Amino acid sequence: MAQSDLLLKVDGLSVSYGHVQALRGASLEVRTGEIVVLIGANGAGKTSLLETVLGINRPDAGSIEFKGRPIAGMAADRVVRSGISLVPEGRGVFAAMSVLDNLLLGAHHNLAKASANLRRVFEWFPVLGERKNQVARTLSGGERQMLAIGRALMAAPSLIMVDEPSIGLAPIVVNTIFEIIVRLNREGYTILLSEQNAYKSLKCAHRGYVLETGAVAMHGTAAELLGDPGVREAYLGA
Ligand SMILES: Nc1ncnc2c1ncn2[C@@H]1O[C@H](COP(=O)(O)OP(=O)(O)OP(=O)(O)O)[C@@H](O)[C@H]1O
Ligand SMILES: [Mg+2]
Repeated sequence: MAQSDLLLKVDGLSVSYGHVQALRGASLEVRTGEIVVLIGANGAGKTSLLETVLGINRPDAGSIEFKGRPIAGMAADRVVRSGISLVPEGRGVFAAMSVLDNLLLGAHHNLAKASANLRRVFEWFPVLGERKNQVARTLSGGERQMLAIGRALMAAPSLIMVDEPSIGLAPIVVNTIFEIIVRLNREGYTILLSEQNAYKSLKCAHRGYVLETGAVAMHGTAAELLGDPGVREAYLGA
């Protein structure tokens, strides 16, 4: 791999909340142009890892490099300005605010380009343009996930992290969301995804990491993980 292809490098990351150790020396890499999925059960540490990369949690140990620069312990707003956006678990949209205001919130790191980015988000998600004055509370679950992704795109990130996009959505809507993720990737976005839905996420990812009690238990190409007997038994119900 050319060094310039390496976008994100997480090495030996440990994070705890009081006495609870959520991450125990987790390492992963994301290269420019990839979709990488972090697979893990409830409590495995997926959200902790993504939030630590974003600068919401401070690591006890380990390093995080983005575009070759150390970012561990950096404040979240600086991390966002450096080019990483997080679509939080449970979407995190502001229910009482309009679709448009939710999107503009995502632009405050990049105001100069807000109107151009907004146009792009409405091209991506015409439904958000049609409903821009509607309060977010009245959107369907799938539309809310589109809004949360659209808000992340407003910062024009080079890496989008999406925390469990499929949670709480009907299977057909989950397919739509994964199709959107693949389309975003084809347009040049690099994506780090966390998922319990191992089968569907591995079907759209290039590579994956299996997180178990805060450590990476296995990693490989999506095809390798889909074919691995241990992964099949634990995460694919086969
Ligand atoms: N703020 C917190 N305070 C204390 N413990 C926490 C906190 N956040 C997470 N934890 C614990 O850290 C561990 C990892 O949690 P995390 O939310 O990262 O897992 P996850 O893989 O995202 O799970 P899920 O699929 O349920 O979202 C769990 O044991 C959890 O209870
Ligand atoms: Mg989580």
